[in-house]
Amino acid sequence: MTSQIRYLMCPPDHYDVDYVINPWMEGNIHKSSRDRAVQQWHQLYHILKEHAIVDLVPPQKGWPDMVFTANAGLVLGDTVVLSRFLHKERQGEEPYFKQWFEENGYKVYELPKDLPFEGAGDALLDREGRWLWAGYGFRSELDSHPYLAKWLDIEVLSLRLIDDRFYHLDTCFCPLTDGYLLYYPAAFDSYSNRLIEMRVAPEKRIAIDEADAVNFACNAVNVDRIVIMNKASNPLKERLADVGFEIIETPLTEFLKAGGAAKCLTLRVTEPVREELHANVSVESRILRMEGHLLDAGLINRALDLIVDNGGSFQVLNFNLGEQRQSTSAAEVKVSAPSHEVMEEIISQLIDLGAVDLPQDEQDVKLEPVTIPGVAPDDFYVSTIYPTEVRINGEWVIVQNQRMDGAIAISQTPQGLVAQCKILRDLEVGEQVVVDVQGIRTIRKTESREKRNAEEFSFMSSGVSSERRVELVVEQVAWELRKIRDAGGKVVVTAGPVVIHTGGGEHLSRLIHEGYIQALLGGNAIAVHDIEQSIMGTSLGVDMKRGVAVRGGHRHHLKVINTIRRYGSIAKAVEAGIIKSGVMYECVKNNVPFCLAGSIRDDGPLPDTEMDLIKAQAKYAELLKGAEMILMLSSMLHSIGVGNMTPAGVKMVCVDINPAVVTKLSDRGSVESVGVVTDVGLFLSLLTKQLDKLTSPYTAKMG
Ligand code: ARG
Repeated sequence: MTSQIRYLMCPPDHYDVDYVINPWMEGNIHKSSRDRAVQQWHQLYHILKEHAIVDLVPPQKGWPDMVFTANAGLVLGDTVVLSRFLHKERQGEEPYFKQWFEENGYKVYELPKDLPFEGAGDALLDREGRWLWAGYGFRSELDSHPYLAKWLDIEVLSLRLIDDRFYHLDTCFCPLTDGYLLYYPAAFDSYSNRLIEMRVAPEKRIAIDEADAVNFACNAVNVDRIVIMNKASNPLKERLADVGFEIIETPLTEFLKAGGAAKCLTLRVTEPVREELHANVSVESRILRMEGHLLDAGLINRALDLIVDNGGSFQVLNFNLGEQRQSTSAAEVKVSAPSHEVMEEIISQLIDLGAVDLPQDEQDVKLEPVTIPGVAPDDFYVSTIYPTEVRINGEWVIVQNQRMDGAIAISQTPQGLVAQCKILRDLEVGEQVVVDVQGIRTIRKTESREKRNAEEFSFMSSGVSSERRVELVVEQVAWELRKIRDAGGKVVVTAGPVVIHTGGGEHLSRLIHEGYIQALLGGNAIAVHDIEQSIMGTSLGVDMKRGVAVRGGHRHHLKVINTIRRYGSIAKAVEAGIIKSGVMYECVKNNVPFCLAGSIRDDGPLPDTEMDLIKAQAKYAELLKGAEMILMLSSMLHSIGVGNMTPAGVKMVCVDINPAVVTKLSDRGSVESVGVVTDVGLFLSLLTKQLDKLTSPYTAKMG
C-alpha cells in the first residue's frame, strides 16, 4: 500500500449473469464461470491493494450485480449521493450500500423516488477535482445532475451517452491524473464531444478506438500513474506510456459478460474536496404547456421524442386526457437540457408544435437591435411556416408576413408596434429583432382537425402519395381548383421545363386559359421550351408529336431566344403574332402575371428573365401573397424557394417523378402539403380531364 486512497469492493460470492439489463448480458445468462470470476476478482483486488486501501462491503444473496460497487453511489469528501437504480433488478442493492456508507460515517443524500442515478458508474470526478463529469441517456436522468451540484457543491458537466453498449459513463470515459482523459468519442453526442473538447486540451485527450472500447479499456482504475484495466492494445499502451502512465492488465472477461470491468468493480471512497470550488450547473429546466389533440394527432409523442433526440430530458407533470374524440387534451411537460444552447434548440421546436409557457411563466420576447443593415443579432430566433405571435409589453402581437428561415423584426410605426418576418438581408438599422426563445408562441388551430376530416385534402395527412393514389389526389386537386376559382381565390403554379417535355404544356395552357391559375413562377427554361414548342413544334429539338429528334433541333431553343430578344419581350412577341399558343401565350393573353427567375446555366436569357436573384425572390414573394394553393410541377429549386416563402395553411401540391424531390418538398410537417410521385405530363392531363368532368353540365349525362 502506498497511499491513503481507499476503494470499496464487494466479493463475488453471489455474482452471476441472472438477467439482461444491458447489451453485454444478452446471450450470457448463467454463462460466466463462477471459479474464473472469483479468481479474476481476487487478482484485481490484490493489484489494487498494492496501491490503495481496499474496504469490502458484504455481498448479498439475490443481488448478483452488487459486485459492481461503482454503482453504490457517488462520494465526494464525507458526502455520498446514493444511487437510485433504473432497473428493479438492482434496486434491492440500495439499502445495503446505504448501510455501509452510514456505518462508515458518510453523510448520505437520497434522490427523489423515480429519479434514476447510478452513482460513480455515471459520474466521474475530474482527477484534479475541478468538476464532475456526469453521464445521462441510459441509466441516469439529466434531472439528477442539479441535485449532485447542490449536494456536492461542485460544477457538473453533463455528457449524453448515445451508444447502448456504453450505457454508463465509466464504460467509455476515464479521467486520469494530471488532467488527462481516456475516452471513446463515438459514445457521446456531438454536443457532449464539444464540451469535452472545450474542457480538456488536445494534448490531454486520449481518444481510443472501438476495438479498445469494447474491451472496456476506459473502464480503468487510475491511482496516480497506474492504470488498471482488463486489456489494452499495444498502440494504446504506447500512447499512455508516452505521457507517463503504466498500464496493468488483469483479465476480467467473466465480468464483461455482465457489462462491467475494473472500474465498475471498485468505488473510490476517498475523494478530496477542493474548498475553493463551488456548485455550478448548466442544466436548465422549463415547464411548458401543450394543448390539442395530443394523442390522436401524435403531438405528445413528437414533442417527447424531439426533447430526447436533441439531448434533453422530460417529465410529464400533468396530463389531462380529453375524453371524447372531439375533446382536446392538455399536458404540462418539464423539459430539462444540459445547457441553454440545447434548451433553445428544443424549445424552438416545441414552439412549432404549439407548446406555450404556463400563464404564470409568460414573459415578453427578448429583443436586440439591428446594428448593421442586413445582419441580425447572433442569437436571433429563426422563423417557421407556422402563424406566430410574440409577446411585447404583456400583449401578444401577431407576426406578419409569416415565412420560414427569417428573423422576426419589431418596428415602431404610427399605427403602433409591428412584428413581421423578414429575411436577413432586409433587416434595417433601428429595428429590434427577437432573440432567444422566450415570449414566442405559434397558433395551432385545433378546430381545423375536425374540419380537415370532413373537407377536401384529407389525403394530405398521408404525405407522399404513390401511383395508386394519383387519381384520388387529382380528384381532390380538381375540386379545390374549382372551388378557389369560383370564389375568386388565388392559385400559383411553379413549373419546370419537364412540364413541356412530358407533354403537359397544352394542359397547363388550358388551366391558365380557363382561369384556374393566377400566377406562374419558373425559370428561363420553362418559357424557352414552351415558346420553342409553340413556334417550332419541338421541345429541346425533339418533335413533340412524333417523339423523335429533329435534325438541327438542338439549335432550336437558341433561335427562339434570339427571336424573342428581337421583339423585346414575350408579351411583345405575342402581340406581334409570333407566339400563337402555349403556356406563356395564355399568361400574356389572360393577364396572368409571371416571374422567370434566372440561373447560372441559362441560355440567352429571355428578356423577361430576371437575372438579379434578389429582385426575383422579391417578385416571387409578391406574386405568392394571398395564394391559397400552390401547384409545384417538377421544378425542385423553384418549388423549394417558394416553400420557404409560404406560411402554413397554404395548400401545396408537389408533383415530381423523383420521390426524393417530393419527399423534400412535402415534408414541411404541415398537414396541408402533399406529394405526388408521377409523371407531370400525365398528372396535368388527368387533372384537365377531371376538371372537364366537374364542369360538364349535369344534364349532358342524363340526356
Ligand atoms: N450488470 C451491471 C448493470 O448493468 C453492470 C454494471 C457495470 N457498472 C458500471 N459502473 N459500469 O448494471
